[in-house]
Amino acid sequence: MELGYYNGKFVGLDEKVVPIDERGHQFGDGVYEVIRFYDGKPFMMTEHLERLIRSANDIKLQMSEGLQELNDLILEGVAKSQLKECSVYLQITRGIASRNHLFPNVPVSIAMTIREAKPLSAELREKGVATIILEDERWANCYIKSLNLLPNILAKQTAHEAGCYEAILVRDGYVTEGTSSNVFIVKNGCIITTPLHKHILPGITRMAVKNIAEQLNIPFEEKYYSPEELLQADEIFITSTTAEVLPVVKVDKTTIGSGTPGKLTSSLYGEFQKVVEAL
Ligand code: PDD
Repeated sequence: MELGYYNGKFVGLDEKVVPIDERGHQFGDGVYEVIRFYDGKPFMMTEHLERLIRSANDIKLQMSEGLQELNDLILEGVAKSQLKECSVYLQITRGIASRNHLFPNVPVSIAMTIREAKPLSAELREKGVATIILEDERWANCYIKSLNLLPNILAKQTAHEAGCYEAILVRDGYVTEGTSSNVFIVKNGCIITTPLHKHILPGITRMAVKNIAEQLNIPFEEKYYSPEELLQADEIFITSTTAEVLPVVKVDKTTIGSGTPGKLTSSLYGEFQKVVEAL
């Protein structure tokens, strides 16, 4: 059964539990994580929670809950839901206080949803997805997984209206990431992705792919690359908790490789599935 949680109480997803003065609602003043459970087991939960705590610290959000408490809360929720294949969305905000930009002296709010994970359609996986390039209009601190997603939403919607699955963002002449994914190119057998810095989210799936590449001795380079290099790539793929490893076969009007998912991308996805099966 899909479930919600808000400040100490498990609730149904349609229950009205968030007060108007919740700062997540008023300001988007908070941080979040999305964690996937496969067959009842979490995928890289510690890494997700470490990133959440880092994000919280970096927006000066003081939580009394630590990694262990958050971990236990999520496990409790997933057990209650009885869902085996699910996505947990966890949101921490600066609490409930009458609207004022300055930090209030109140406890943080913790919200969570546990929903059945809907796998991407087989067609998307087998055929790969189309993307467009857009200017990265987000703020300078995209390494923080903040609730403020307006530029991401606008770019994703623009992509959708252009018949595309994702927008690939470009800042100062180099590719940063997707609106909700990290972006990789393959050139002459080498996997290339943008280095971790303030302008991109340090994706947990990115980390998993890097580990796989290292274990299999596949060349993996973290370097800045231009939209031109993107268009000339042999293969492109994106990663995220929900998309896992997803081939990109088109960028704007340019077909990538043969227009079908690349070999290395497909084998990385196969390896990713092995990691999931071994959880
Ligand atoms: N998004 N970059 C951005 C901007 C993201 O929002 C995400 C994830 C990623 C990939 O991170 P990870 O591999 O840790 O999921 C990269 C999640 C899935 C979301 O907002 O739904």
